[in-house]
Amino acid sequence: MNGRKTFIASIRDITERKRAEMEVRESEDRYRDLVENTRDLICTHDLEGRILTVNRAAIVLMGYKRSELIGKNLRDFLLPQHRPAFDGYISLLKRDGMAGGLMTILTKRGEARIWEYSNTLRGAGGVEPVVRGYAHDITARKRAEEALREGERRYRQLFESNPHPMWVYDLETLRFLAVNDAAISHYGYSREEFLGMTIKDIRPSEDVPRLLENVAHVTSGLDQAGDWRHLKKDGSIIDVEIASHTLDFDGHRAEVVHANDITARKQAEERLAASEAELRALFAAMRDVVLMIDRDGIYRKIAPTDPGFLYRPPDELLGKSLRDVFPPADAEKFLGVMRRVLETKQVEQVEYELPIGGRSVWFSASITPMTGDMTVWVARDITERKQAEERIQRQVGYLSALAGIDRAILSTLDVRATLKYLISQAASLLNVDAATVLLLDPYKGALEFGAGTGFRTDAVRTASVALGEGYAGRAALERRKVQIHNLAEEPDNLFLTGFLKDEDFVSYYGAPLIVQGRVVGVLEAFHRSRRERDQEWFDFFGTLAGQAAIAIDNARLVEGIQVANTELLLAYDATIEGWSRAMDLRDRETEGHTRRVAEMTLNLARLAGMSDAEMVHVRRGALLHDMGKLGVPDSILYKRGALTDDEWKIMRRHPQFAFDMLSPIAYLKPALDIPYYHHEKWDGTGYPHGLRGEEIPLAARLFAVADVWDALTSDRPYRPAWSEEKALEYIKEQSGRHFDPQAVELFFRLRLPK
Ligand code: C2E
Ligand code: SIN
Ligand code: SIN
Ligand code: FE
Ligand code: FE
Repeated sequence: MNGRKTFIASIRDITERKRAEMEVRESEDRYRDLVENTRDLICTHDLEGRILTVNRAAIVLMGYKRSELIGKNLRDFLLPQHRPAFDGYISLLKRDGMAGGLMTILTKRGEARIWEYSNTLRGAGGVEPVVRGYAHDITARKRAEEALREGERRYRQLFESNPHPMWVYDLETLRFLAVNDAAISHYGYSREEFLGMTIKDIRPSEDVPRLLENVAHVTSGLDQAGDWRHLKKDGSIIDVEIASHTLDFDGHRAEVVHANDITARKQAEERLAASEAELRALFAAMRDVVLMIDRDGIYRKIAPTDPGFLYRPPDELLGKSLRDVFPPADAEKFLGVMRRVLETKQVEQVEYELPIGGRSVWFSASITPMTGDMTVWVARDITERKQAEERIQRQVGYLSALAGIDRAILSTLDVRATLKYLISQAASLLNVDAATVLLLDPYKGALEFGAGTGFRTDAVRTASVALGEGYAGRAALERRKVQIHNLAEEPDNLFLTGFLKDEDFVSYYGAPLIVQGRVVGVLEAFHRSRRERDQEWFDFFGTLAGQAAIAIDNARLVEGIQVANTELLLAYDATIEGWSRAMDLRDRETEGHTRRVAEMTLNLARLAGMSDAEMVHVRRGALLHDMGKLGVPDSILYKRGALTDDEWKIMRRHPQFAFDMLSPIAYLKPALDIPYYHHEKWDGTGYPHGLRGEEIPLAARLFAVADVWDALTSDRPYRPAWSEEKALEYIKEQSGRHFDPQAVELFFRLRLPK
C-alpha cells in the first residue's frame, strides 16, 4: 500500500517537475525571442571586455557578423580616442555593479554611432561574473541636438549682431523682454530703460490705438509686417518698416520684431523727385537747332546756331537728303511724318538717335509745317535727358524692387513664398523671359527647383542638376557667374536636350547664391531672343542673387531650428520607448506591461482633466516608471518567493535609482513624478518618502492604480496572476489606503461599458 502511494507521489513529482521545466524553457524561449527581436543592442561581455553574446540588433547595427564579434574585445570597437576610458568603465561595474552613459562605437563601415547604455554586472555564487549590456542608438538624437545648438547659436547671433534694431516683447503685457544693441544705439534708451518699458512707450501717442488694435490681432505662426512711426528717446520721430513673428520666449507668448528705419529711404525718394525737377529746368535751358527740310527730305536751310550744337557742319548737310544722314528705315519714317505734317498742318514730335563721333546722341524734334512743301525742324539734343530718364526709371524700379524684396524676406520666413516673389520681381526688372532659383540639396549634391517664372512647361519643376554639371551646376561648383550669350554657338548646347528643350532659350545667365561662404543655390535668367546687357544689369543681377541667398538663409535658419526641435523630440521619445522595451525584457514581464500601464494612466489622466501638455510628460514618466529596477540585482528581481528584509531594502531603492538616473536629463525633469513617487501610498505608508494624500503628485496617484492592477493580473516570478475579480476587489479595498479614492473612482469609471 505504502509503496503504491510513494509510487503515485513520485509520478506526480516527475510530472510537476517536467511541467516546471517546460515552463522555464518556454519562458526562456520567449526571453531569447524578445532579446533577438528588439531593436536595441543587447550583449554580454566578461570583465576583460570579451564579447560573449550579442543579439541580432547588434549585428545589424554594427555591421559585423556574429562570428566577428564573439570573443573579440568590446574595447576594440570603441572610437580609438575612447579606448583608454574602458578601464574606468570596467572598474565602475566592479564597484557599483552598474554603469551607464554614452559609448561611441565604430561600425564595420567606419561610421561612428553613439550608444546610450545601461550595463549591469550579473552572476553570483561561483558563476563567472558577466556584464549584461543594453544599449540604445542615439546617434540621430545627438546630431539633432548639435544641429539645434548650432541653429540656436546662429539665431541668437542673427538677433544680437543684427544691424537693424530688434526686440522681443510679451504679447500679454507688451513689455520688452529682450532688445539688441542696434535697438539701444538707434533709439537712445539703455537696455535697462527698454526692459522697464512697453512697446507703447516708443510710439507717438496718437499711434497707440492702432498699435493695440494690431497687437490684438497677432496670430501665432503668422508673420506680421507694416509701416509705423517710432519715437526715439530724444523725442524725434522716425519711419520704420516692421516685420515680426510670434515665438515662445521663456514661456511667454512673445513677438520678435525687426525694425528697419526707412526715414533715410523716404528722404532719398524725395531727393529723387527733386532731381527730376532739376532735369526739367536743364531741358528748358537747352538751345535748339533749327533746320528747314523739304518734303523730299532735302536740307534747305540751317538757322544760325552755335555750331557746337550741330552734329555736322552746316555745309555738309545743305543740299543733302535725310536718306544720306539716317539709316533707310528712319529716313523713310521721317519722310512719312513730314508728308503727314504738310497735309494735316499739325505739328508732330519725333525722337531719334544718331551715332555721332562714336557715341549715340538722342534728339527730339518738333516738325512744323511751313508754306509750300517746306517743314521746320526744331531739334534739341536730349541725350542727357534720355540717359538720366532711363537711369532714373531703372533705379526707381530697382529701388522699389529691393525694398519689396527686403520686406518679403523680413516678413515671411516661408522660403518658397519669398523666392516666388523675388523671382517674379527679378524677371520683370531684369527684363528677361524666364528666371528660376535652384536650391542646393547638400545631401544629394544636386540643385533642385525652388521657384520659377516664365516657363512654357512645368518640366523645370523636376530639375535636378548635379554639382559641376550643366551651367547651373558649374556656377555653383566654381562659385562664379556663368553667361552664355548665344546658346546655339555652344559646342554641347545643354538646352537642346533635357528639361528645357522646349523653351527655345537663346541666352543664359547664372549666378551662385552664397551665404557665409556656403553655396545654397543658383539664380538663373533666360532670354528667348538676343539682347545686349550692360554692367548695370549685371550688377543688379548680382544684387538679386545676394538677396535670394539671404532670404534662403534666414528661412532655413528658422526652419532648421523647428525641424531640429521636432527631430530631437522624436529621437528622445524613441530613446524612451527603447528603454522601456529593455526594462520589460529585464523584468521578464508579460510583453507590453509598460505600454498597457502607460495607456491606462493616460486614460485616467484625461478623465482627471489634465492638459495635453501635461499628458506628454505623464506618458514619458509611465514608460520609464520602473527604470530604477535596472539597479536591482537579478537574484532579487527574479526571486521566486518572498523577499527578505535586506532584499526589500534594495528593492525599495528603485524609485531613488530612477530619480538619480533621469533627473540630469532636462527634458525628462517634468516626467519624473511617476518614476519617483509611484510607490507612495495615500495613507502615507509608501516609499521612498512616505508622502500622504495630495502631497503625492496626481500623476503618480493615478499611475499607482494602473500599475498595481496590471501587476496583479499578470504572472510574476514570485506568484501567478490573480483573477480579475480578486484584483478588482483588492483595488476597491485599498481605496483610501494604498490609493487615492478619486483615482480608484476614475479607474472604475474607465471600466464602465461605453
Ligand atoms: P511589481 O511586480 O511591478 O509590482 C508593483 C506593485 O504592485 C507592488 O509594489 C504592489 O503594490 C503591487 N503588487 C504586485 N504584486 C502584488 C501581490 O501579489 N500582492 C499585493 N498585495 N500587491 C501586489 P511593491 O509591493 O512596492 O513592489 C515593488 C516591486 O518589488 C514589484 O514590482 C516587484 O518587482 C518586487 N516585489 C514585490 N514583492 C515581491 C516578492 O514577494 N518577491 C519578489 N521576487 N519580488 C517582489
Ligand atoms: C555596445 O555599445 O556595443 C554595448 C554596450 C555594452 O554592452 O557595453
Ligand atoms: C512693434 O512695433 O513693437 C510691434 C508691432 C507689431 O507687432 O505689429
Ligand atoms: Fe516600481
Ligand atoms: Fe510596473
